[in-house]
Amino acid sequence: MTDPKEGSIVIIGSGLIGRSWAMVFASGGFKVRLYDIVKEQVTAALQDIRKQMEELQKSGMLRGNLSSEEQISLISGFTELKLALEGAIFIQECVPENLELKLKIFSDIDRYVNDSAIISSSTSCLSPTKMFNGLRHVKNCIVAHPVNPPYYVPLVELVPHPQTEQVTVEKTYTLMKKIGQSPVKLMKETDGFVLNRLQYAVISEAWRLVQDGVISPRDVDTVMSEGLGMRYAFLGPLETAHLNAEGILGRAD
Ligand SMILES: NC(=O)c1ccc[n+]([C@@H]2O[C@H](COP(=O)([O-])OP(=O)(O)OC[C@H]3O[C@@H](n4cnc5c(N)ncnc54)[C@H](O)[C@@H]3O)[C@@H](O)[C@H]2O)c1
Ligand SMILES: *[C@@H]1O[C@H](CO)[C@@H](O)[C@H](O)[C@H]1NC(C)=O
Ligand SMILES: *[C@@H]1O[C@H](CO)[C@@H](O)[C@H](O)[C@H]1NC(C)=O
Repeated sequence: MTDPKEGSIVIIGSGLIGRSWAMVFASGGFKVRLYDIVKEQVTAALQDIRKQMEELQKSGMLRGNLSSEEQISLISGFTELKLALEGAIFIQECVPENLELKLKIFSDIDRYVNDSAIISSSTSCLSPTKMFNGLRHVKNCIVAHPVNPPYYVPLVELVPHPQTEQVTVEKTYTLMKKIGQSPVKLMKETDGFVLNRLQYAVISEAWRLVQDGVISPRDVDTVMSEGLGMRYAFLGPLETAHLNAEGILGRAD
């Protein structure tokens, strides 16, 4: 996976997330195969990617070291899964959030890929156990959950299945770094992964404060956008606690 010339990244599903992933991988110099069951969707995706990349180049916002033309030429469209998967080194699934559909896709992919390809899902809330149980290549399966849109938001949550091999996690981590994303590793699966768990905690406290008559909905949002959110754009909650007062270890409670 170190030489971008070797093998391809295959994106399954050319919707919102699939297009953005395709652009991120191409910006890192990887050959990208974009697959969708709907032919018009692939055509539209390739056109949309070209338009986006040309605009990004004009405004100086294009990611990576290659020109938009060079990046566009790395991406090709496919409507036949078996063909798309030839030479695949890393597969990023981006089909709609529907367990039945994902199970069908993963069992098809499992049949066509070789033993070193990594099979990764963009799912926002389906567990690796539900999606990957029983697959022949389960040790190569992982969730790489992006934040929409991955082209602009670097965080990727890596979530293993209990049978995912550590080398799969490490290879995925290295690949994500290489294309300029910011991966984090979950040690085990958990509902909502981590970003959404933190987000839900904030949302429920916001509701509670409004419900208890402490603050208006508008003002609770201002607390976040004009205060706490500004801090959290730079520092995590644990760093913040550490930098406060005598530091996190000085806290008796
Ligand atoms: N949109 C977000 O904010 C967001 C954020 C993080 C993760 N995700 C996850 O990414 C995944 C994709 O979401 P999206 O917003 O891009 O969806 P989308 O509806 O925009 O795109 C889905 C694409 O999959 C295609 N598709 C449907 N069935 C297919 C099949 N059998 N084989 C191949 N392609 C098929 C559709 O034609 C469509 O192009 C979901 O699992 C979602 O939970 C979404
Ligand atoms: C761009 O080039 C620099 C310097 O060679 C390198 O460090 C960086 O990883 C490259 N970026 C991408 C996305 O390939
Ligand atoms: C799997 O395919 C990729 C891409 O063609 C290739 O680089 C890799 O060596 C293959 N691995 C095995 C175990 O066949």
